[in-house]
Amino acid sequence: MLSIKDSVGENPPAHVPTLDLHEIQATVLRQRPAPYFGMHILLRVDDAAAGRAFLRRLTPYVDSAAGWRIAANAWLGVGITYAGLEALGLPQDSLQSFPETFRVGMAARAKELGDVDLNDPKHWDAPYGNAQVHIGISAFSDTEEMRQRALAVARDQYEGFSGVSVVVMQDFGAQPDDRNSLGYKDGIDQPPVEGSGVDPLPGQGRPIKAGEFILGYPGETGVPLPMPQPDILGRNGTYVGYRKYHSLVASFNRFLREHGSTEEERELLAAKLVGRWRSGAPLALAPDKDNPALGADPQRNNDFDYASDSRGQQIPFSSHIRRMNPRDTQLQRLTDVNIHRLIRRGTTYGRPYDPNQLSDEDDHVPRGAIFLFMSAKAMDTIEFLQKEWINDGDFIGANNERDPIVGLQPEDATFTIPKAPVRRRVHGIQTFNVLKGGEYFFMPSMSALKWIGNQGG
Ligand code: HEM
Repeated sequence: MLSIKDSVGENPPAHVPTLDLHEIQATVLRQRPAPYFGMHILLRVDDAAAGRAFLRRLTPYVDSAAGWRIAANAWLGVGITYAGLEALGLPQDSLQSFPETFRVGMAARAKELGDVDLNDPKHWDAPYGNAQVHIGISAFSDTEEMRQRALAVARDQYEGFSGVSVVVMQDFGAQPDDRNSLGYKDGIDQPPVEGSGVDPLPGQGRPIKAGEFILGYPGETGVPLPMPQPDILGRNGTYVGYRKYHSLVASFNRFLREHGSTEEERELLAAKLVGRWRSGAPLALAPDKDNPALGADPQRNNDFDYASDSRGQQIPFSSHIRRMNPRDTQLQRLTDVNIHRLIRRGTTYGRPYDPNQLSDEDDHVPRGAIFLFMSAKAMDTIEFLQKEWINDGDFIGANNERDPIVGLQPEDATFTIPKAPVRRRVHGIQTFNVLKGGEYFFMPSMSALKWIGNQGG
């Protein structure tokens, strides 16, 4: 049997971790490699006993977070949807102990998520949103060779089970220069997790209580969130919001050209939309021109706050990163920013970004991003972000403007760039990233995976 374990060493973390790293899945705490290669394999279970037998075979190959500071690496993570837990024959009292939002699934919460119109589940790619996705395996690695090895390990476990079938195989990987589907470097900022044993990078802020991200630990309020029962099922697990976006690259490029006559003007506008230059350099530290060396330096590229830009003249209030993590911005609605954080594992798929693509046909080329958003209350946090911080602007003084990168835009949507003496209001913002699928997964601990696999005798 192939193994990917021999690539896994265990470098000691900076501090003694207080989290049970041997129980928590690697994907929760381990950063995406750079560059990265991988695949999401989504499976359906038609026979509970076969599904559980498959899970028992797969579990020894799922990596824990214990060896998470590893340079050369590949790992597998696994999540199970509510439909999957049902299909695997979990006892009724355990099934009922999951939160309602998880049980009904992402598509059923479309109204609360604002996934309407273009983003409506009726337009999603098959098989998302129809209770057909039961188990998700994600393989991450730092080389194509290791990706193939990880995939072979995964395939060895599900091939040959008549009651388990693949419904999606989605390749993903870093684009040249580690850019995403709209040409930006991403995966830079992450919330630091208390007890993980790793020091926050400059600018990451204070460590956030582990219970915000992992079940069974106190959260920011001082108490753990309710867990699925029994304890062995819930503890050290987390929830994952999986969202697949299709990026309209040509529309985005045309928009930049309409509002910028030189490449410099276009790139400045692109930076204002996100709050970072495409290289990852933050506008807060490089207000006038890109600084690729800054963008590439993890010790510096996140080391900023918004204190010196209380009017949004450097980093517009409406920009993507200021909305998604307002840091110390004075908000119009009182809220604790640290209770709305998500661990993000963004994965880019399809043809690499090309600034010269302008044709309508190009908008149909499959390319975009699949995000894994992880937290102990991922369903609530994603609903909050979608409603308050993405598809509204009141909270940050941006009136009814929406997030220019990921908002669902109405007709003639605008983006305001505060400026003295007069602000600039850019028209023609469109929905540049269209939602094409989504599912909620529960990402169980290592013990919980074994427990699930052993149900039913
Ligand atoms: C295809 C759609 C999207 C694109 C192209 C995109 C792009 C980016 C880029 C370029 C950054 C800056 C680099 C970084 O810190 O990683 C960023 C940051 C971020 N994005 Fe997105 N994003 C997308 C969707 C989303 C969605 C749907 C959410 C939340 C539900 C989100 C949440 C965040 C957060 C929390 C940050 C970090 C902000 C900070 O801490 O400073 N993004 N995104």
